[in-house]
Parts: sequence; structure tokens; C-alpha cells
Amino acid sequence: MAPLVEIRGLTVDFDVGPRVLRALHGVDLAIGPGEAVGLVGESGSGKSVTWLAALGLLGARARLGGSVRLQGEELLGAPVRRLEAVRGRRIAMIFQDPSSSLDPVHRVGRQIGESLSLHRGLAGAAARAEARRLLDRVGIAAAERRLDEYPHQLSGGMNQRVMIAIALAGEPDLLVADEPTTALDATIQAQILDLLRELRRDARMAMVLISHDLGVVAENADRIAVMYAGRIVELAPTATLFATPAHPYTSGLLAALPDLEGPRRRLTAIPGTVPEPGRLPPGCAFAPRCPRAEPACDTAVPADVVLAPAHHAACRRVAA
Ligand SMILES: Nc1ncnc2c1ncn2[C@@H]1O[C@H](COP(=O)(O)OP(=O)(O)O)[C@@H](O)[C@H]1O
Ligand SMILES: [Mg+2]
Repeated sequence: MAPLVEIRGLTVDFDVGPRVLRALHGVDLAIGPGEAVGLVGESGSGKSVTWLAALGLLGARARLGGSVRLQGEELLGAPVRRLEAVRGRRIAMIFQDPSSSLDPVHRVGRQIGESLSLHRGLAGAAARAEARRLLDRVGIAAAERRLDEYPHQLSGGMNQRVMIAIALAGEPDLLVADEPTTALDATIQAQILDLLRELRRDARMAMVLISHDLGVVAENADRIAVMYAGRIVELAPTATLFATPAHPYTSGLLAALPDLEGPRRRLTAIPGTVPEPGRLPPGCAFAPRCPRAEPACDTAVPADVVLAPAHHAACRRVAA
């Protein structure tokens, strides 16, 4: 099937005064209609930058290269008006912290109404009825009353539901959920993930679920892309990635997951941190932290190795 969104060779360079720092080094990722893709990697891997770049939200200091196509239409370098028509309507994005995305001085109903007006031309009683239906749909009780409340009157979890309602107002083909549950406690996190799963199924909407936590995407993605230092280092169907991870970085992320059964144990996190743009080692960016690195890993950036038709990993050790 033709992809809904196809990212090819996406590069992002940030112009920071005297230097230009490359944050993305050629990202390839295609999302099929209705598909759920997990994008995981530690903080600083380039997950958010990938989708902010795709939607033209990075600002003037970012220089973009490569291609981002929405059903064949090139979005990179598209006129602002065209991007504004795509954002929210075709591709909607929600973020980690709902309190910074919601406007504290406007009632919840008005904020959903703005999205309904912008994307679907609804106003007045029709907009209010649809806003109420959306609040219902995202599991907010007493929706009629909540429409007239302000964000500070709602809990963090409820505000994230409101953000989801605003995203749904445009009936997007793709929802990009960037760490949507990271700011929430574990019980609420599970509820929001259940809601996203349900909504995606009902609306036949594609979803990119971004998280630093493989556990969060495990049950909510058909495929998983693992990102490290501005590159996708492994891409596989979810079951394959968990059963036969190929990249040592993926194995490291898996080892850091808590056991679902049995006593809580200390997590074996990968020692070290993701290198910042401009401070990448010359060869494989993961080599300095990699338990399987060999001298050659320090000399050249590893090529993408195809292990199976839908399973790739950029590691010179996987071919061996
Ligand atoms: N506007 C910016 N200017 C300079 N560097 C940036 C900017 N935005 C992000 N970066 C850098 O790009 C890298 C990737 O960031 P990001 O995509 O936010 O990571 P993630 O979402 O995976 O945690 C980080 O090192 C971050 O510091
Ligand atoms: Mg991020």
C-alpha cells in the first residue's frame, strides 16, 4: 500500500551562531494509512525534531534537507499556507506537557471550538455540540460542564484528554503523539494509552507514538523505529524487535525495561548518554557505549543492514 507519510533522507541542521550543528543525519521512515509506529530512543535522539521538521515547526534557525511526502505531496519547502492546511487537519501532533499547549485564559470548550472552526468550519451550537461529543469520546465525564472550565480546573490527565480532543477535532489521518504520557503517573498513563489505541482503531487513524520508553510503545505499535543520535538505527515489526533485536542499542533499551512479573529489580541502563549534535564520534555514534563494538566501528558510520524485508539495523556487527 502507498504510504500516507514518507520521510526520506531527512536532515536537520541548526544554525547556532558560528556553528552549524547537524541534529538529523538522514532519517527514512514511512507510515502506512492507519498504521501505528513507535519511535523510541533516549532523550536527545532526535525523535521530536523529526516530526517538528516534517511539519515545518522548527523555525528559521533550522535548515532542512531530504523529503517529507504526504500522499505523494512534498511538504519540505511547501508554502506556509499549505503547511497550515496540513497541520491539525491531515497530521495532528500532541505533546508531553498539556499545560504548555493549552491556553490558561480560555475555557476548554472554546479551545476545542477553535480547532473545529479552523479545520471543519463549525461554529455556534454545532461547534459546541461537537466539542461536547469529543470530550465524551476522550472519556471526560460531565462533558457539558467541563466545556466551561479552564485548564487549571482539570487534572493533568484530563488536560491531556482535552489535547487529544483538540487533535481529533480536525479528524487527522495521522496523529503524532510525542511522549503523551511522560508527565502523567502510571495509572493515568495506562488509561491514556488505552484511549489512544481505541481512538486509532475507531477513526482508522495512523499514529506515531514517540517515547523514550520501549514499554510504552510495546502494546501500541505495529512497528517500532529505534532512534539514536539523529538516525534510525533499527526498524522492525514490534514482535520481531522484542524477540530478535539486532542493534546493541535496542538490546540495551530492552534490558532496561522492568520485568512485568517477579520482584522489581534494578534497571540495567546503558552507561553514558546520547552524544549532542556537533559532538558525534567519527564512526558509529553508539560505539563508545556499545558492549559489542570492535575497532572498525570507530572508523565508519555503519550502513543499514536488511535482516528481513521489514527488519533493518544500522550496525556492522549484525551482518556477521
Ligand atoms: N532548536 C534547536 N536548536 C539547537 N539544537 C536543538 C534544537 N532543538 C533540538 N536540538 C537538539 O537536537 C537533538 C535532538 O533533540 P530532540 O529531537 O528534541 O530529542 P528527543 O525528542 O529524541 O528527546 C538534541 O541534542 C537537542 O538538543
Ligand atoms: Mg522529544
